[in-house]
Amino acid sequence: MDKFAITGGTVLEGEIPAGGSKNSALPALAAALLTAEPVTLRRIPRVRDIRTMQRLLVDIGCKVEAEGETVRLETPAIACPEAPYELVKTMRASSLVLGPLVARCGRARVSLPGGCAIGARPINLHIFGLEQLGARIEQSHGYIEAQAPEGLRGAPVHFDRITVTGTEDLMMAAVLAKGETVLRNAAREPEVADLACLLVAMGAEIEGAGTSTIRIQGVERLHGAVHEIIPDRIETGTFLIAGAITGGDVTVTGCAPEHLGALVSKLQQAGVDVTQPGAGSLRVRGGGRLRSVDMTTEEYPGFATDLQAQYMALMTQAGGIALIVETIFENRFMHAQELARMGANIRWDGKQAIVAGPRELTGAGVIASDLRASASLVLAALAARGETVIDRVYHIDRGYEKIETKLARVGARIRRVE
Ligand code: EPU
Repeated sequence: MDKFAITGGTVLEGEIPAGGSKNSALPALAAALLTAEPVTLRRIPRVRDIRTMQRLLVDIGCKVEAEGETVRLETPAIACPEAPYELVKTMRASSLVLGPLVARCGRARVSLPGGCAIGARPINLHIFGLEQLGARIEQSHGYIEAQAPEGLRGAPVHFDRITVTGTEDLMMAAVLAKGETVLRNAAREPEVADLACLLVAMGAEIEGAGTSTIRIQGVERLHGAVHEIIPDRIETGTFLIAGAITGGDVTVTGCAPEHLGALVSKLQQAGVDVTQPGAGSLRVRGGGRLRSVDMTTEEYPGFATDLQAQYMALMTQAGGIALIVETIFENRFMHAQELARMGANIRWDGKQAIVAGPRELTGAGVIASDLRASASLVLAALAARGETVIDRVYHIDRGYEKIETKLARVGARIRRVE
């Protein structure tokens, strides 16, 4: 298993290009199952979760050709409408094939995801929504089987709670259903709007994506399309925090500043200088005294849970006390234990953590427990005195493309140990 060896204390300076959004690319790849015609996706990040999704699509009957960041997908017929446990257990986003499969061929068999490091993460809302659209769903042997031999029919669906992939799954099911579907209390994440943009390019009729009410008029069939994935706002945010935590001067280029309002606001309140030098770039300049600022995670446009761990690392270097509340997942403070091993002063209980700073961090051996927790350990290591060795960096490879290369180009002393 690979490790990262990071020697902290370098001030990061320079430009880092943003990659395409992993969480936008995953549903976009699944959407290719909705048509027999070729779908070409640009700016697909080369990360492990994307490779897992591509493997799943190949098993289902999709021809996948990747060249650099461009992926061409063609699914003349569905050979096997199934997502097996072996893949779903490694990546819950596999459940994104459920909606497209039922919509395209009236049948899907998808493994239930089981436990996850950051919380229970059930898919009951995906199932409920498909039932509203007329699918018959049965559960046995750890799998759910959905059937809609006569096709799905449009219906109103009100989500009990906001779910990102649930909204995406239902949107993909509804585009080929008969009649109108209205999704209420839908997720407003930019990734949902990006998926709608692709589906519309494929011939779907969708209004309101990016708001909490999405109206979908089902169409007979979809056609091929070419679509470019939006920049990854979580990767961008991670690099901005890297600039801030090292007191550096880092510009992320090719990003979408409009998707990062909540983080930019917190950074500014914490005393970091954040500017937008161009339409698609954000620059942070640290170096002054950092102030502690409380933060609560929320659905978009609130502060993203996927940046909570990285923000906690930053708060270890801020003067004062920061209360961090995680409202989306039940168990997303696993990085706190590791940050404490590096010298951070953190107390946590359930959904709340209190970080008192600034505390000098010192390099230590730490273990990455999930994707974003690993990113927070990388950030802490950049600010720490001495060397930190982060074990199990396969977690970070799930969602960050060559993070060590991108950080090294702005001066970080980081190397991958195989
Ligand atoms: N939930 C249910 N029932 C459902 C679906 C969700 O109770 O049927 C609960 C979840 O357990 C959670 C909350 O609702 O407590 C929100 O979950 P959501 O469904 O929105 O999460 P997700 O769609 O599974 C996506 C991202 C996550 C990100 C969350 C929240 C993808 C592929 N994944 O997950 O990204 O944290 O939204 O923004 O889009 C990551 O990239 O590191 C990551 C975990």
